[in-house]
Amino acid sequence: MSFPWANEYKPSHPVMQWVDDRLPLPRFVYNAIGSGYPVPRNLNYFWNFGVLAGFCLVLQIVTGIILAMHYAPNALVAFDSTEHIMRDVNWGWMLRYAHANGASAFFVVIYLHIFRGFYYGSYKAPREMVWLLGVVIFLLMMATAFMGYVLPWGQMSFWGAKVITGLFGAIPLVGEPIQIWLLGGFAPDNAALNRFFSLHFLLPFVIAAVVILHIWALHIPGSSNPTGVEVKSESDTIPFHPYYTAKDGFGLGVFLIIYCAMLFFLPNALGHPDNYIPANPMSTPAHIVPEWYFWPFYAILRAFTADFFIIPAKLMGVLAMFGSILVWFFLPWLDKSPVRSGNYRPLFRKFFWFGLIPTMAVLFYCGGAAAEEPYVMLSQIATAYYFLHFLVILPIISSIEKPEPLPYSITEAVLGSDDAAAIKPAH
Ligand code: HEM
Repeated sequence: MSFPWANEYKPSHPVMQWVDDRLPLPRFVYNAIGSGYPVPRNLNYFWNFGVLAGFCLVLQIVTGIILAMHYAPNALVAFDSTEHIMRDVNWGWMLRYAHANGASAFFVVIYLHIFRGFYYGSYKAPREMVWLLGVVIFLLMMATAFMGYVLPWGQMSFWGAKVITGLFGAIPLVGEPIQIWLLGGFAPDNAALNRFFSLHFLLPFVIAAVVILHIWALHIPGSSNPTGVEVKSESDTIPFHPYYTAKDGFGLGVFLIIYCAMLFFLPNALGHPDNYIPANPMSTPAHIVPEWYFWPFYAILRAFTADFFIIPAKLMGVLAMFGSILVWFFLPWLDKSPVRSGNYRPLFRKFFWFGLIPTMAVLFYCGGAAAEEPYVMLSQIATAYYFLHFLVILPIISSIEKPEPLPYSITEAVLGSDDAAAIKPAH
């Protein structure tokens, strides 16, 4: 999608003109994130999180590359090399805290980005591909974060790796060989640490490639907006630059204030103290907990405590944990409502705010708590509701709900009337 005048774009600076005639990169930028890209005029702050996610990805890659210059992926010295970064390398403590808190910030931003999509129906046609690629990115992010947490080779690194790779052992017949193959041995050790380091370095670049596809797919229909009504005329849009570069710049400023407050004043608040103890295969920590951003899925994993006919409880937990994210792939087809935005869907809105959000909060809390009552029972109820929400409730409400009246256009939603609509044929 581009403005009618975008094709005639000529850079004003002669050097840029010279480049543009030979390699139309300036034209590409102008049409992708410049004044040539029309964006709905009514985007709210929830539309800031895509750009913030991009910022986090770059932040993680830059800090990660520098950390890798000082880190040693060898089980004998990995823990010490991390401490060496913290104590001896100039600004090493800041780099490491920036990377660790950067991972948390990335997940906060991504969860808001995903839940914006859930509420405003961003996954619906014609943006299914944007959504599907997003779910792929999320899976890659989880794999990257898991492997990154193993690298400092502290107690939680080791036992986290043991629990998560142990999940593959639940697969019937081939589980154990797969687990040994993944680890390169019978337990996490040097081989596992080395391959996790290698993949942890590689995957962010794979994520970057998928992000390019994600934005490419987005630029075909252009962004949706809080009304969910598609752009009808030029008056519904404003150029990305300067309007959304300014708005995204403001969002980035607010993000940086919160991120820096965490980085400089509470750098260990989100980490587990046990990871400052070197990995010890002979001593199991009292509670093995993953990083906070895995908690909802960890709660689903642990919710299965009894075998289901011939399926062992552990396998059920593993299937449910992966299924809880894989179900997002089907969301564009499970939610059949023709109305996109939750703002005009009264029944959907109730189930979103009083069903899905509290369920996620319970799963989140239980995933971080010890595997004992009442948390196990709460996880079981929340897991059941979670799947019910996506597989049963959404399809049903999308067919029985009576949506509220939609504005004719984005302009009408913003200004109360649409002059461009007056000279166009009626709806
Ligand atoms: C590194 C991770 C990601 C980056 C850099 C990224 C970037 C972006 C950007 C820049 C936009 C346009 C601005 C906006 O709408 O906020 C966008 C839109 C979108 N993203 Fe992502 N994204 C990421 C991950 C995800 C994930 C994990 C999902 C879903 C599972 C997702 C789903 C979407 C959808 C559906 C849209 C279109 C929203 C609309 O127009 O209403 N993205 N993304």
